[in-house]
This record gives sequence, structure tokens and C-alpha cells, in this order.
Amino acid sequence: MFNIWNFWADKYDKLWVQKDSLKPTREYIIKTLSKYKNMEELKVLDLGCGTGELIFELKKEFNNIKITGIDFSEKMIEISKNKNPSAKHILMDVSELNKLDEKFNIIICTHSLPYYKEPKDVFEQLNKMLQDDGRIFAGFASGDSIYDKFILSFVKLTTGKANYPSDNEFRILVSPFFYVENIEIIRKKFFMPRIAVYTLKKAES
Ligand SMILES: C[S@@+](CC[C@H](N)C(=O)[O-])C[C@H]1O[C@@H](n2cnc3c(N)ncnc32)[C@H](O)[C@@H]1O
Repeated sequence: MFNIWNFWADKYDKLWVQKDSLKPTREYIIKTLSKYKNMEELKVLDLGCGTGELIFELKKEFNNIKITGIDFSEKMIEISKNKNPSAKHILMDVSELNKLDEKFNIIICTHSLPYYKEPKDVFEQLNKMLQDDGRIFAGFASGDSIYDKFILSFVKLTTGKANYPSDNEFRILVSPFFYVENIEIIRKKFFMPRIAVYTLKKAES
């Protein structure tokens, strides 16, 4: 089946959005995770890992880390595997997460959520896969204002079907399973849409 991300894979690390969107998102996550450096083992899942740049940077920074990267694009996963031979990679759609029988301390999902068909089902499943004291970092461009929606309508032309949730839509989406512990807004350039990284904690059951 045609997958637009296979087309972008070998160009992805050089795209202009790396500098003002993807890289600052990675830097924020790496900085935030530094408090876990003393844990004996940190099990991390990177959903929609793409070319594995975050996996590469995390592995460089943390020697206690055990990372699994998931992506449904063969080409993206192939590039990540070459870059990160010691990480575990799984070629799968996030809609199939129920096939994994593992728990993680940290689940990261950067700039891939807008492309999930059923994001609510994904978060329901992530609730089962996250350790009780674990955290999810979900970062994405958000259709929060008319300006954001306008800009993102152009981005959609390059990615195919996408839904960039507003702050309110995202909170409603995750509310049965998680509460929002923190939000970091990344705006390196005034013309960029709102990019938010949400830290999620399991809702009390
Ligand atoms: C914009 S890239 C983000 C890559 C990386 N996480 C980053 O922050 O640079 C989106 C990635 O999500 C993957 N993706 C999108 N929908 C997916 C799905 N339903 N299941 C698995 N991977 C998916 C794409 O193949 C692509 O590699």
C-alpha cells in the first residue's frame, strides 16, 4: 500500500522543519528526561519513530536506556535501524499496539499523532502499556487558532490526511486515560504553528 512517509524517508533528516520544529522538540524531551539518568534501566517506546533521530540522540545521552521504535513506514524504519543497530525496531501501525505485551517507563510520540486513524484507541492502549509511575510525551503541531489551521492546511498537502488537534480537542481525547501534567510550547519562529509537547500521567483508576 502507498505510504507517503516512505517517500519522505530519505529526505526527512534534511527537511527545513528539522531546525525549527523537530529538533527543538527532541531537545526538550532529552532535557526533560535527564532526571531519569540515575534509574537502573529506562524502558522507552518511541511511537512513529521515523528515521530514528531521537533514538540516536537518546542513546548517546543515556547509558541506562532500552528503546523500542515503532513505525509503519518500511523506509523510515530501515533508516532508523541503520542509525541505531542496538535499538529494537518494530514495523507496525500504532493501531496494532495491542499485539505488544510490554510495559514502558516513558512513551514518546512526537509529530506522529496527527496521522493516526483512531488516536483515542491508541491512548487507551498506551494506558495499558505505561508503567503506573510512567510518563507520555506527546508533541505535535496543533490546530489551536485560525492561523494554525491555515498554516497546517498547507502542511497537510505534503503528508496526506491529518488531524492536528487543538488544545481542547487533545485534552478531551486523552482525558479518560491520562491527565496533563505539563505543556511546553515550542515556537522558534513567529510564523510556525503552535507546537506543544504534553507530559501525560496516568489518570487515577
Ligand atoms: C512527521 S514524522 C515524525 C517522526 C519523528 N517522530 C520525529 O519527531 O521526527 C511521522 C512519522 O509517524 C509515522 N506514522 C504515522 N502514522 C503512523 C501509524 N499509524 N503507525 C505507525 N507509524 C505512523 C510515519 O511513518 C512517520 O515516520
